[in-house]
Amino acid sequence: MDYTGIPVISATGLFTPEDSITNEELVASFNAYVERFNSENAEAIAAGDIEPLQPSSVEFIEKASGIKARHVMAKEPVLDPAIMAPRWPERPDEQLSILAEIGVKACRQALERAGRDVADVDAVLCAASNMQRPYPAMAVEIQDALGIDGFGFDMNVACSSATFGIQTAADYIRAGNARSVLVVSPEITSGHLNWRDRDSHFIFGDVATAVLVEDKAIAPEQHWEILGTKLKTVFSNNIRNNFGFLNRAHPESADAPDKLFVQEGRKVFKEVVPMVATMICEEADKLGIDPQTLRRLWLHQANAGMNRLIAQRVLGHEASDDESPTVLDTYGNTSSAGSIIAFDLHNADLAPGDTGLICSFGAGYSAGTVFVRKVG
Ligand code: COA
Repeated sequence: MDYTGIPVISATGLFTPEDSITNEELVASFNAYVERFNSENAEAIAAGDIEPLQPSSVEFIEKASGIKARHVMAKEPVLDPAIMAPRWPERPDEQLSILAEIGVKACRQALERAGRDVADVDAVLCAASNMQRPYPAMAVEIQDALGIDGFGFDMNVACSSATFGIQTAADYIRAGNARSVLVVSPEITSGHLNWRDRDSHFIFGDVATAVLVEDKAIAPEQHWEILGTKLKTVFSNNIRNNFGFLNRAHPESADAPDKLFVQEGRKVFKEVVPMVATMICEEADKLGIDPQTLRRLWLHQANAGMNRLIAQRVLGHEASDDESPTVLDTYGNTSSAGSIIAFDLHNADLAPGDTGLICSFGAGYSAGTVFVRKVG
């Protein structure tokens, strides 16, 4: 078999849950919860023992984040002011896990688009923020469901998981250890979001993406050559989730808000924008790419303002929607899947020879860049 050792993206796949929640629906539910809480605790509030909860607002959400709606796996319980969390029946071990199920759907689409027989796939990396369980690895379950003979493992670098997965897959190709690797990012973020927290209840949405990274020798005629990848992590507590099995050691705080997603959004904004913009420009320079010639940026989808600033610093001018497409408005923040959704939905119109950048960033802090050029 021929190897070139040149990694390419052969195809991507996207699974989008049918249900979607608009800001109006979300805020109506949140505010009903706030009213109920404040009236149930009226005495304690009047006595000054507890603070009344403040209502959320559609205008704030859209202005601060750019998010207008988000897809979810279970709309009704999330919007029920008495529940405000996803709910579905627990599945027996013999049945495919829900996280694996949506990952498999995204993988099947990527395989189909590439015309790839599963017999030729060597590995599955499940790269995501929100794993359903510690083991057996989600990747191994997805590998089994797809009928792939090879290996799989999970990796979690929060919102940067997909780009870290792409570099890992690309390194397997470069080293000749694999010729075809699926990087799958199933994100059921609705499970880790605190839907009762006014500061963050609007942020996340559910989705699954898949990226088929292959040796150029077997890639379909049309593909994206991976020109270079770069990863970076810098420890920060500004985005954190303390959920884990050691929480059993502290039963008194098992339900504390820090066992779900919490962040210092302002600090994240301020610290991550310069870190990512500098990283992109330095890496472009090393690859001999003038960042201002990048045809399109498929950026992590966390906040429209952050993307505007990063794109401006990289391109040297205010980016148009065409140069830096957003999916945040309809998908919300989908953690590691965001930049891949943007790439999946907005790459077909580019011409052979066009160069672009897939870039993600988030908790850790972590950031990953993947420079790609269209071929065919
Ligand atoms: N509805 C109405 N008002 C709200 C609100 C809501 N849902 N949530 C917060 N507010 C209020 C605050 O109470 C605050 O009021 P104050 O000025 O009287 O104190 C005001 O709005 C501003 O809040 P702040 O949290 O500072 O907003 P922001 O402009 O920083 O926007 C984020 C918040 C989270 C959208 C923004 O900081 C962000 O996206 N940061 C980057 C986050 C990120 O990328 N995270 C990665 C996750 S993986």
